[in-house]
Amino acid sequence: MKIENSLPILLLAIPLFFMMQIGHTSPVEEHVVSYSGFQVWTVATNTDEERSALLKYVQLYVPKPFQKELGKKLSEANITFVIKIADLKEVIKNENANIKTSTFSKSKSAHNMNWTSYHRLADIYDYMSYLAATYPSLVSLINIGSSYEKRPLYVLRISNSSSLCSKPVIWIDGGIHAREWISPAVTTYIIKQLVEVSANSKMLFDVDWYIMPVMNPDGYEYTHVYNRLWRKTRSMTSSPSCRGVDPNRNFGFKWGGLGTSTNPCSDIYKGTKAFSEPETLATSNFILGKANQIKMYLTLHSYGQSALIPWGYDVAYPNDYNDMLALAKSAVSKFLKYKFSVGNSAALYYPAAGGSDDWAKSIGIKYSYTFELADTGTYGFLLPASNILPVAQDFFPALGVFATKVATLKI
Ligand SMILES: *[C@@H]1O[C@H](CO)[C@@H](O)[C@H](O)[C@H]1NC(C)=O
Ligand SMILES: *[C@@H]1O[C@H](CO)[C@@H](O)[C@H](O)[C@H]1NC(C)=O
Ligand SMILES: *[C@@H]1O[C@H](CO)[C@@H](O)[C@H](O)[C@H]1NC(C)=O
Ligand SMILES: [Zn+2]
Repeated sequence: MKIENSLPILLLAIPLFFMMQIGHTSPVEEHVVSYSGFQVWTVATNTDEERSALLKYVQLYVPKPFQKELGKKLSEANITFVIKIADLKEVIKNENANIKTSTFSKSKSAHNMNWTSYHRLADIYDYMSYLAATYPSLVSLINIGSSYEKRPLYVLRISNSSSLCSKPVIWIDGGIHAREWISPAVTTYIIKQLVEVSANSKMLFDVDWYIMPVMNPDGYEYTHVYNRLWRKTRSMTSSPSCRGVDPNRNFGFKWGGLGTSTNPCSDIYKGTKAFSEPETLATSNFILGKANQIKMYLTLHSYGQSALIPWGYDVAYPNDYNDMLALAKSAVSKFLKYKFSVGNSAALYYPAAGGSDDWAKSIGIKYSYTFELADTGTYGFLLPASNILPVAQDFFPALGVFATKVATLKI
């Protein structure tokens, strides 16, 4: 889901502190959040009043002490709910069960990347270095800046031409939101397909690709080590006990509008100004430098199985919305296993200003989309690693549709 921050609303409606640990009060001293005793519930509503109070299919992370009482209150209000995950800690443990402590090669002649496990940042970056070293005529590794915690921000350029600006470009990013692990996994799968699978080489004939698998590396590492459900960056805020800005509320178009928060403890905190975060600033500057060439902006999130079209800041439609809609529908029609809905992002979800897709559209990138990958809420962010390949394989053919269209656009 694009906004996973319905909990504060629920906290107001139901005075229970069941979301205490998640995202809202992250201590600055880093300690591991265990989710021991948490369950995951999906709450469905029946009437408009219930819906407006509760949003549809909000997932609540309910700690043990509140499970009984909340269940009773919901039942009294005739709100049905399903306990989707009875033991959150167990699901987190099993999500990436195959992983063994990997010995980082750091060698450019090998890598640890596969698509049966979710990988740490070092594996992803090693893989990118490996590809650049192994396929120097196709791949270059570009360091576009540093994160708040000084991790490099890497973009991979995949092009079969030595000329830097002869073809239209498709940009793809993943990992804006730290906990959406399927996003970097699918993004690196796309890289592999484009670089290492020769049957796909025609996808490089007429377009160049710039791919950034992890835009928010600090957050991504934080989800691996401390808090699996962290969403934001890891910058210090004005609140000593709350860290991080929602990078997808931090882009500089209609910044601070609907669906954003001024509260540093919120999961949709917009930051002190547009591009306050080094991650969004570096990314936007890099994209601006190639704005004439980039004809498509794709950003991969989870979850919800939807292709979202700007504008997202409000229910509003660009003049060429129908072009964008037609292309998205044609891309999504390639999906065989996962059914996606397609539509205006504010209409399908709710308004959220400062998103990267809106910003990309605002600088003139005609085709700008947010894809919310699988699933639709069974596991949500905690999609087991056995789903990586099915999700990625189902998604990849959409890029063929996009490449064909972008190839026709003049730069
Ligand atoms: C819940 O449903 C029951 C039976 O349909 C009804 O009697 C009761 O008034 C409802 N309660 C609320 C709070 O709507
Ligand atoms: C995939 O990578 C993970 C992490 O490095 C590793 O633990 C696992 O054994 C690998 N799986 C296979 C099938 O190689
Ligand atoms: C690179 O792309 C051109 C078309 O622009 C194509 O003719 C050529 O065969 C491609 N080269 C490789 C190595 O795939
Ligand atoms: Zn997201």
